Amino acid sequence: MTAKVLELLDKPKLVSKKQVSPRGYFLEIYHPLVANKAKAGQFVTFQATELSPRQPMQIVEINPQKGTFSILVEAYNRATVELVELFEEGDEFFNVEGPNGNPFPVEKYGTVLVIGHGWGAGANYPIAKALADAGNDVYIAIVGGSRENIYCEKEYKELFGEEKVSVYTEDDEYGREGGVIQALEDFINEKGTPDLVVYAGGTGQGEILAEATKEKGIKNISLVASMMLCTSGLCLTCRVKVGDKMVQNCLEGPYLDGNAVDWKNVAFRSGYYWDLEKENLEYFVNKLLPRLKRKKQQQKKEQ
Ligand code: FES
Repeated sequence: MTAKVLELLDKPKLVSKKQVSPRGYFLEIYHPLVANKAKAGQFVTFQATELSPRQPMQIVEINPQKGTFSILVEAYNRATVELVELFEEGDEFFNVEGPNGNPFPVEKYGTVLVIGHGWGAGANYPIAKALADAGNDVYIAIVGGSRENIYCEKEYKELFGEEKVSVYTEDDEYGREGGVIQALEDFINEKGTPDLVVYAGGTGQGEILAEATKEKGIKNISLVASMMLCTSGLCLTCRVKVGDKMVQNCLEGPYLDGNAVDWKNVAFRSGYYWDLEKENLEYFVNKLLPRLKRKKQQQKKEQ
């Protein structure tokens, strides 16, 4: 019993790292406290080293027996590049906090179309599973700018069968041609209007999709990738306008009523510091990362 309790206090550790595209990696993390509590739709906040920025990441798979959970990392900023470039199997993280956010409202909706754009396909994976377990008829659309942004196709097909999974690329490199709107329109033409659309991915695509679902009167629950800092309800960085209410996305989200979200405001606020983030990433990749790698190699030699 004591060993079981002490195990919950173990430092989070990288168990496995698998590259699945030029910028995409699956990381399996040993963290029994999260693995025992997390539910579909929740996220964790990484602070990889003492000096790293905090980075929210959606949980893709949970394995309470092993005490692990998995995330899909598409390396695009300092925190995510650091996660995949600096950490190898067996390495410990400074802090991984969670599970954060609200679990997805898993209910019996009827026919559900789950649309994941880029990394969003990973975020939606546990939700699609939970909705199917709750008796919904679940279909999947995986959408990406090109083939290298298509994630979890094999995993979805294994779980739901080939006939329930469609793949779209905007550059027509792989699967059907088109984006989130094409995926919705094809579904309506081939299977009828779904009772619910679930979306995860970039804000721009979320906005376009919400315009379509609102117009067609389809319920829409979407992941809102707003900026987050504290991820614990203290800083208000993550506030999102949903209808006439302001919600704290880190507590009440990240899956919110997509038809009521003010997507333009989310896009404006998320893009506000993008130039600074780009500068920071350049400095990190060119100057800091090589030094951190050397320091880590040195530490390993000394152990
Ligand atoms: S991220 Fe600070 S209140 Fe939500």
